[in-house]
Amino acid sequence: MTNAVRSQGENLISPQLLDRLACPRCHGALAQWDSGLRCGICASEYPPEDGIVDFRVVASRSGAEDWTDHWAEGRQSRRIQRFFSWYRKVVFSRAVQHYCDRYFAERGVFLEAGSGTSETSMRLNKFGGSRILVALDIVPSVLKRCHPIMDVRLAGDIFQLPFANSSLDGLWNVGVMEHFTESEIDLILSEFRRVLRPQAPMVLFWPGVDSIPQKLLALVQGAVHIAGRRDFRFHPPEISQLRSLRHGREILERNGFEVRHLAFGVRSLFAFKVLVGCPAGRASPLEALPRHMDGA
Ligand SMILES: C[S@@+](CC[C@H](N)C(=O)[O-])C[C@H]1O[C@@H](n2cnc3c(N)ncnc32)[C@H](O)[C@@H]1O
Ligand SMILES: [Zn+2]
Repeated sequence: MTNAVRSQGENLISPQLLDRLACPRCHGALAQWDSGLRCGICASEYPPEDGIVDFRVVASRSGAEDWTDHWAEGRQSRRIQRFFSWYRKVVFSRAVQHYCDRYFAERGVFLEAGSGTSETSMRLNKFGGSRILVALDIVPSVLKRCHPIMDVRLAGDIFQLPFANSSLDGLWNVGVMEHFTESEIDLILSEFRRVLRPQAPMVLFWPGVDSIPQKLLALVQGAVHIAGRRDFRFHPPEISQLRSLRHGREILERNGFEVRHLAFGVRSLFAFKVLVGCPAGRASPLEALPRHMDGA
């Protein structure tokens, strides 16, 4: 191993964050190894590529190929995708700033789970570095274009997060949950619950069936289909839009979250409803153990 490779590895993940990370396969503790990270229990290795550690463990997660196409350079340079990028930065980022700054503590490690470019997170207050912001997405190439507000970028899967039990001080995402079936959503929320500390907030921005911008996009998409381009779409389908805020409450509660706040989404100009919840109940004795014992 050359010094150059070693120093790249040592700079990849700070000791503070390494302490929160865990093997996505067995939740064992990770250590710096060669240029990447290695699990002390199952010996799985997680190499970096272009400075981004790759924690994906499932060969083909449903929908991942669609997202890789979606984020392809050629597609993102189209005028309409450039408009969406501008809209994320001008409109959605203010809604994210409002809710995350309101519910997150001023200090800690916070995960955007399904981050894309993280443009919607660009206005978050980091309190001079007290908040460490982590971007995680299943498409490594989009992380290379991730907004610089994010301190750390990880390739990973929201079904199998590379974090120890009760290791995160908060978690959020924007326009992610609606792309999964309800049974997949339950698996994802169970994983979010595992990695969040007791009482740590989760903020989900989730479109409803009545969200006005989505209805407009569906109209345009329908018109393009009638005009003959039947394969046209703005993004992969939103198969689980929220039927109502009550529907959002049911999803959180059946997955062990206490509801802190539900909002119709005025701040995102009605594109996203907002669900804020915290893991319900007190820490179990197992969750309170040091992380090195989690995976044993
Ligand atoms: C609609 S985008 C939202 C991203 C960002 N908030 C935005 O507004 O551009 C959904 C994101 O979820 C990511 N994603 C899909 N499935 C995932 C998975 N299993 N694990 C992690 N990320 C995933 C996609 O790659 C995509 O970047
Ligand atoms: Zn392991």
